[in-house]
Amino acid sequence: MRQRPILGCPWPVRRVRRSVEGGAPGVYMTPMTFAPHRFSVAPMMDWTDRHCRMFHRQLTSRALLYTEMVTALAIRHGDRQRLLGFDPAEQPVALQIGGSDPKLLAEASKWGEDFGYCEVNLNVGCPSDRVQNGRFGACLMAEPALVRDCVGEMRNAVKVPVTVKCRIGIDDQDEEADFSRFVETVMQSGVDTFIVHARKAWLQGLSPKENREIPPLNYDRVYRLKQRHPELTIIVNGGIANINETQLHLQHVDGVMLGRAAYHTPWLLHEVDSRIFGDAAPEVSPLDIVERMKPYVAAQLAQGVWLQNITRHMLGLFHGLAGGRLWRRVLSEEASRPGAGLEVLEKAAEQVSSRLAAEA
Ligand SMILES: Cc1cc2nc3c(=O)[nH]c(=O)nc-3n(C[C@H](O)[C@H](O)[C@H](O)COP(=O)(O)O)c2cc1C
Repeated sequence: MRQRPILGCPWPVRRVRRSVEGGAPGVYMTPMTFAPHRFSVAPMMDWTDRHCRMFHRQLTSRALLYTEMVTALAIRHGDRQRLLGFDPAEQPVALQIGGSDPKLLAEASKWGEDFGYCEVNLNVGCPSDRVQNGRFGACLMAEPALVRDCVGEMRNAVKVPVTVKCRIGIDDQDEEADFSRFVETVMQSGVDTFIVHARKAWLQGLSPKENREIPPLNYDRVYRLKQRHPELTIIVNGGIANINETQLHLQHVDGVMLGRAAYHTPWLLHEVDSRIFGDAAPEVSPLDIVERMKPYVAAQLAQGVWLQNITRHMLGLFHGLAGGRLWRRVLSEEASRPGAGLEVLEKAAEQVSSRLAAEA
């Protein structure tokens, strides 16, 4: 029997165990369509909010987009519409949750499912002090049994897939033995998808930013995890700069997640659908993307959103292209002014157009 997908969600509602080829018993899907994790944009606090995701969605319809991390406690006590609300046009979107209380995480996951997210992801990779004080994020790498219980409760609470985003270890953990033990314990919950930031987190003495740069990357360790557990869906993350590198990683693992490169050089996302998912190559320019964003921007402005809250995510659109500096300058200087409207976006686009025409 075919299972019915939910709106905007690229996979069946109930998790199905895939065969190694990527097919699923009873569910007819080609490996390409049943590979939503082949490319994703990472969860990034303060960056991947709903405006950012809507912008990224104009560049790629296939990439799986992640929210910023939302804590399970905030979901219980906070303004859920503000924390979880999003536009269905952003789909497919996965909600990332932080926490370490199985019951609270189960409740938060259910809220996420009810709001329409097509996946719930547990953060086991964030090294910030705030997160460590709450006993979640990367410090959970030292508590695989607790992660297993958390993920087990989350899976029991929802029909959408539950996934884990983790590191290859923390502090003086052994990247081989301890990481294997972590994954194999967490797998007991039935979870079958791991997104692995391919470096350790050092919990003392490094800032979160340094923890994204200083501990050395070890992609081979992630590849070996896939070799040892071909039945798992393994997504590699960390330091991946572009689509060429993405394609190389895909020879070893099921998916690639880009964070900073996608944010700072978003134009690379326009090739994802064709080069990663095999769709027809798009006939689109960065200026077309600006056009596509205009109705959304107008609607948000009408609801009282400040232009800058949207355009701050678009500053890198012309990065490395003619007019890139002009674009950034007009938006940086003018979008923050009180009452700034669509005319600022149009002015920036016109200036880029003129520069392109002059250079042609
Ligand atoms: C500004 C910023 C905020 C981040 N916030 C989160 C977060 O909320 N949850 C999470 O799992 N990782 C977070 N990360 C880590 C990224 O998801 C990703 O693992 C990391 O940046 C490495 O990937 P990259 O080298 O492609 O950027 C954040 C990274 C950045 C740059």
